[in-house]
Amino acid sequence: MNNHKVGVLVSGRGSNLQAIMDKIAEGVLPLEIAVVISDKADAFALERAEKAGIPNFAVIRKECADKKEFEAKIDEIMRAHGVELIVLAGFMRILGPDFISGWRHKIINIHPALLPSFPGLDAQGQAIRYGAKVSGCTVHFVDEGMDTGPIILQKVVPVTDDDTEETLAARILEQEHKALPEALSLWAAGRLAVQGRKVTITN
Ligand code: GRF
Repeated sequence: MNNHKVGVLVSGRGSNLQAIMDKIAEGVLPLEIAVVISDKADAFALERAEKAGIPNFAVIRKECADKKEFEAKIDEIMRAHGVELIVLAGFMRILGPDFISGWRHKIINIHPALLPSFPGLDAQGQAIRYGAKVSGCTVHFVDEGMDTGPIILQKVVPVTDDDTEETLAARILEQEHKALPEALSLWAAGRLAVQGRKVTITN
């Protein structure tokens, strides 16, 4: 059986990438990570990919003439590796409308809050400062907005009175490591149907 090929975009430590790699290694996620691309040359995620023998590249925005060239390079590498779905796993840049429309419903992102609450940067800090009693994570398809695309699944965690950004982030991260492989497993099984804003999980 040919496994579906995904490409992963990262910027940093890559613990979500690792969670996917671990599930694949356990034999419970029928996917192949065809390529990992980072926008930071020193991202630890690239070391994780290298260690696992996954083709990996750094594509640096400043080394490109403009955002268009930056995104064209990413697009080219993804397509050259036969990628069917792009996973944003801690990728800290906003992709432009041209890139997104070329990959409609073929890009997913993990965000560390219960969208539509607390989009953008420092979602865990936003939840704490707002006084939210629960937060969590959201896996969603990416559209042209900031963390606004159709929601695939969410996981909830409590926010406790003594939480700091760090303790809440750690509690959420544990759930991210479950949510992302779960969403990918549903995608790989062809069980995600998108209609407008709504994602239905089919049987
Ligand atoms: C995660 O909290 C993810 O939700 C956010 O950035 C963080 C990336 O962590 N988008 P890692 O690089 O996967 O460890």
